[in-house]
Amino acid sequence: MAEIICGKTVSAAKRLDIKNRVEELKNKGITTGLAVIIVGNNSASRVYVNNKKKACEEVGIESFEFALPEETTQEELLNLIDKLNNDSKVDGILCQLPLPSHIDEQAVINSIDPKKDVDAFHPENVGHIMIGDYTFLPCTPAGIMEMLKFYNIDVKGKKCVVIGRSNIVGKPMAMLLLKENGTVEICHSRTENLKEETLTADILVAAVGKAYFVTEDMVKDGAVVIDVGMNRNDEGKLCGDVDFDNVKEKASFITPVPGGVGPMTITMLLENTVRAASQK
Ligand code: GUN
Repeated sequence: MAEIICGKTVSAAKRLDIKNRVEELKNKGITTGLAVIIVGNNSASRVYVNNKKKACEEVGIESFEFALPEETTQEELLNLIDKLNNDSKVDGILCQLPLPSHIDEQAVINSIDPKKDVDAFHPENVGHIMIGDYTFLPCTPAGIMEMLKFYNIDVKGKKCVVIGRSNIVGKPMAMLLLKENGTVEICHSRTENLKEETLTADILVAAVGKAYFVTEDMVKDGAVVIDVGMNRNDEGKLCGDVDFDNVKEKASFITPVPGGVGPMTITMLLENTVRAASQK
């Protein structure tokens, strides 16, 4: 049976370090602030934003919330971002995605000052990640790398299979695993014979967005299984992309949902925010 990778434990250690760094900056007269923008009434986004604000408070980062109505125009949103780009109290700007469909998400991402882009979504920061030389970490993949390190799971030479090719998780995840000398494969919805591919994985990362998508027959004996999913099952209960109860019998390590990758994503956002403050 697999050892459970506890995101809360890894987070707690990391958040303590971040809290100390925020305090050190404060002692030098440097504040650390994060602007969080949410547009519309997406209930999942509201939960994420509340969790991010709570985490800021925990480590002494000041958070400034901008809750805008669904009908906000792209121009209004870009104007707000422009103001925040020029506000010295704001070190990081996070615009919670998804945005309402009348707003061009990429235009909004492009408008954030790359030095305040704590999500690392701006093309300039994405480029840095591609090159392997960066300040801002892509939060979810970086959180996963921290968890692997904490549990002494070596990536070097391992076959890593990432299911999902999103800009937020799949693509940057592949880059970070590659940087640690993993042999990386990205699978997606058009991959033929997915099971054949996943069965080769020493490290399997599921970022699909479908409840219980990864079943035990898709997992190699002793694999490390990382679940990025955040879904609701038929009973409305929070669950991941992995059929945890069955897969845990086959894996060597596995992340639960909740309490796995989720807390780490927020922790890495805090890490990026304190990095931004340190550099101003
Ligand atoms: N929506 C889902 N995940 C994220 C994230 O990491 N950052 C932002 N800004 N929006 C999201």
